[in-house]
Formats: sequence, structure tokens, C-alpha cells
Amino acid sequence: MGVTQIPEISVGSCDRTMPVIGMGTSADPPADLETAKAAILEAIGAGYRHFDTAFAYGSEKPLGEAIAEALRLGLVKSRDELFITTKLWSSFAEKDMIVPAMKMSLSNLQLEYVDMYLIHWPVRLSKEVKKMPVEKREYILPLDLKSVWEAMEECKNLGLTKGIGVSNFSCKKLEELLATAKIPPAVNQVEMNPIWQQKQLREYCNAKGIHISAYSPLGANNTKWGDNRVIGCNVLEEIAKSRGKTSAQVSLRWLYEQGVSIVTKSYNKQRMRENVDIFDWSLTEEESKRIAQLPQKKGVLYANIIGPYDICLEIDAEI
Ligand SMILES: NC(=O)c1ccc[n+]([C@@H]2O[C@H](COP(=O)([O-])OP(=O)(O)OC[C@H]3O[C@@H](n4cnc5c(N)ncnc54)[C@H](OP(=O)(O)O)[C@@H]3O)[C@@H](O)[C@H]2O)c1
Repeated sequence: MGVTQIPEISVGSCDRTMPVIGMGTSADPPADLETAKAAILEAIGAGYRHFDTAFAYGSEKPLGEAIAEALRLGLVKSRDELFITTKLWSSFAEKDMIVPAMKMSLSNLQLEYVDMYLIHWPVRLSKEVKKMPVEKREYILPLDLKSVWEAMEECKNLGLTKGIGVSNFSCKKLEELLATAKIPPAVNQVEMNPIWQQKQLREYCNAKGIHISAYSPLGANNTKWGDNRVIGCNVLEEIAKSRGKTSAQVSLRWLYEQGVSIVTKSYNKQRMRENVDIFDWSLTEEESKRIAQLPQKKGVLYANIIGPYDICLEIDAEI
């Protein structure tokens, strides 16, 4: 299989265009440095130019090593050919900690800037938090969105990132953010796939010029935070069979046709190529209609990850 040219799109207030499919780097079980680095190099060889990492994934260092190696090997001519997204972890979601946290991520990545810096979760976690689920309710704190966003804006103004955005933000949280933001968020990275289509959030974000990036587009198949609800969905399987595709490709193609970008993870040589092989065919109107009618279920719930505390249940209930 050859190298796929992945289309790029403009995303709001970001200073550069973003490849519509990015390679995720959150692995379950976590990958060791050499495995992750080799997979990322393989992905660059397959045509991926956008990589999605986060302080919390522990994948910034292997990604940094892989980028340095790709430059040495000439797989990419310059760092500018890559689009790197990383995320502010909730333990650092406090005004004075944000620029230092961003610099720590840059140091892990061996980069002078990233292309997108996102607030990872719409909560703050106290320093006592060492594992999930969180042991005590008082360790989970609300975000002071105004001051946190000011520090995110500072990261952009300092040239540490080309774009700033959020992740897992509901319409309600975005409304609160937009009320004081000087630079609007370019991106809201959220769970999205045929089983959780995010219709209301997409309408809101479209109206406000905020680009949606879909994570867990394959339902996080085979991970502890996901299952086979997308890959094993009968309707997707039927469409895939009739078109000579896989259900993963049908899900990814459907997302692409919704105008969102995608971050999907595969460290498997064949599957990472399969996942970008979606640009030379399209779904019929009838197929899109069948997908639009699928019963909906949110997969990623804070109550499951952080614990069934009031603040988590509230966030989970927001749209
Ligand atoms: N902002 C957030 O809060 C947040 C939350 C979750 C994820 N993310 C980001 O989004 C990325 C993608 O989401 P995700 O990792 O949750 O889920 P995903 O991309 O939906 O699924 C990844 C899982 O599916 C498997 N897979 C990949 N391609 C496949 C195919 N063609 N057929 C069958 N199985 C396939 C992968 O295994 P193999 O590697 O073995 O192929 C992996 O176990 C993450 O890596 C992370 O960067 C962000």
C-alpha cells in the first residue's frame, strides 16, 4: 500500500491548516517508548502528518523522538510539514501553571511550538490526584474558565502554539468560554462516531465557527475506555460488506463527510493504512440516512473515568 495524501482544512483561529485525519497516541495498554516511536515513524511513512498527543498519555516523549528521527531520516523535510496537537492536563489547569505546563510539553516533544494546544478536560484536578478513579470528591474542582483561557491565549501570543482550543466541552461550557475569550477556541475535540453523532454540539459549533475534531471514531475498539459498538455495528458492517470496505472505513468516511476532522489511533501497520484509505469513494444518500438513524449512546463518561461524583454526572449530562 502506498502513501495517502490526507487533505488539510482551515480551523478557525489557528494560524495553519490541519490535516483532516490525525494519528492518536493514547494506547491501551500503554505502549513503551520504542513501540510508540516505531509506530509513529510507520505512520509518517503512510502519509500521516497530524499527531494527537497529551501530557496525560505519556506519549509526548516518543512522539518527540519520532519527529526528530523522521527529520534525520528525511521522511519529512521540515517540522512545518507536521501538525502536532497536545493538551493541558487538568492538574495544571490553573492560570499560573499553564505557560510552564505548555513549556514542559514542548520540552517533552523537543519542539519550539505545537500547532494546537487544547484544554484536555473541563475540570481541574488537585495535586493529590495520582490515579483514576479519583479517591475524594474534594480533589475535583471546577475550572476558572476565564483565567485559564487567558493563559491559553498567552501561550498563543508567546508563539508556543499556532492554535488554541478545548476538548470535551459542552455547548454550555463553550458559551461560558466565549463570553470572555479574546481569541475564540479553534477546535473542540470530542467523542464522535456513528453511535454518538453530537448533532446538537455540531450545530452550536458550526454557528460559532468552532471546528469539531472527532476522537474515538472507531469507538476506541479493544481499549478499556471503549468497545466494539462502532466496529461491530450491524448497519456499518452491512454497508462495508456491500462496498468492499471495512466498518472502520465506513465510520471514518461518514465522519469525513460530516465536515469534522478525525483523530484515530492504530499502531498496526495495516490498520493505520486502512484508516486513511477513505478519500476516493463516498457514501450514498441512502447509506448516510441509515447511519443518521442509528440509536445513540455516549461512550466516554466522566463518572466512569473520574468517579460517580456530582460534578462528573453534571458534565456527563451536558450536551
Ligand atoms: N480529548 C480526549 O479526551 C480524548 C479521548 C480519547 C481519545 N483521544 C484521542 O483520540 C485518539 C483516537 O481515539 P481512541 O484511541 O479512543 O479510539 P479509536 O481511534 O476509535 O480506536 C482505537 C482502537 O481501535 C483499534 N483500531 C484501529 N484501527 C482499527 C481498524 N481499522 N479496525 C479495527 N480496530 C482498529 C486500535 O487498535 P490497533 O492500534 O491495534 O489498531 C485501538 O485499539 C486517541 O488515541 C487520542 O489521541 C482524545
